[in-house]
Amino acid sequence: MTELHFTLTEADRLPEAERETILANPGFGNHFTDHMVSITWTQEEGWHDAAVLPYGPIPMDPASSVLHYGQEIFEGLKAYRREDGSIVAFRPEENGRRLNASARRLALPELPVDLFVEGVRQLVTIDAEWVPSGEDQTLYLRPFMIADESFLGVRAAQRARFLVIASPAGAYFTGGVKPVSIWLSRDLARAGRGGTGAAKCGGNYASSLLPTRIAAEHGCAQVLFCDSATEDTIDELGGMNLFLVQAGADGAPRALLTPRINGNILDGITRKSLIRLAEDRGLAVEERDITVTEWREGVADGSIVEAFACGTAAVITPIRRLLGEDGLSIDFGEENSPGELTMSLREELTGIQYGVREDRHGWLSVM
Ligand code: PLP
Ligand code: COI
Repeated sequence: MTELHFTLTEADRLPEAERETILANPGFGNHFTDHMVSITWTQEEGWHDAAVLPYGPIPMDPASSVLHYGQEIFEGLKAYRREDGSIVAFRPEENGRRLNASARRLALPELPVDLFVEGVRQLVTIDAEWVPSGEDQTLYLRPFMIADESFLGVRAAQRARFLVIASPAGAYFTGGVKPVSIWLSRDLARAGRGGTGAAKCGGNYASSLLPTRIAAEHGCAQVLFCDSATEDTIDELGGMNLFLVQAGADGAPRALLTPRINGNILDGITRKSLIRLAEDRGLAVEERDITVTEWREGVADGSIVEAFACGTAAVITPIRRLLGEDGLSIDFGEENSPGELTMSLREELTGIQYGVREDRHGWLSVM
């Protein structure tokens, strides 16, 4: 264990009645718990000053590097309240490892994974009463790191801060588990070869906001990005990975298809967990290049039978259709009926997370 003692400054907690009102209908990302975690890094001292602090504004110099050159990375994971009242996080060390992969790409300092997990644990423990217990409710945890040096020269900052904040969450997409429409963005890309697409950095999300707005104007809940070179090979959604379900000759699901980790997409933890669960069931999983053309032809000839998006925030969300410019429309057609395999994988994954199914891969960490 990395030796770093967390100091504690107790917050004035939100009165219980107000907290309960929020927990009854938290939405997504609207409310924040009473505390936050902060750890400081400097080139000279490394990581130091680990603290649990009252949630609140962080003082920042207007010349702080994050404000000018976008040197920022983040993570997203959830804490779940199980039926016996205990609280678990799902694969937090995977998020810690991915934060470090992002840190390397963004020239930020790496944080020891045990310190990452301990920071998350400190926050979940002190704000445990904020972990909701309603159906599909969780405490969404947002660890992030910012460059925080007051210097306008363009180089990697010599001062950074790691913070963790937490927000009680209901479903990311409102309206229950209902198939969503997604919009294919061809002209506006999220990532290019050699860029930051594989990192979880704020800039990737900034560049996805305009295409997401265009998607919304077409009635779509999310935007799908393709490889910017081929404009046909599928990468991922603005904030989720994508899977297609392929049926065999008998019409039953035989394989999950998902874009390979190609350097442009996020190595999703939900994605890799679902690959494992599918393989456990004896399904084939093909991580490879998938094109929009293959999707369209597969739906037309009946070999592609389901599609879904997955990620921490979205869990597993069935996709009803893919729309795009020039009249592109690939439609599974059944407005309110999510695919069977999609729903069964969703049920299995959330069952593990909420402790009603066996955690056979040891994915849960008790907080
Ligand atoms: N892809 C992007 C761009 C994301 O923002 C996310 C969400 O974190 C994912 C994929 C899914 O990753 P994970 O399953 O680790 O949450
Ligand atoms: C997540 O699923 O944790 C994400 O980061 C997606 C989105 C909320 C940014």
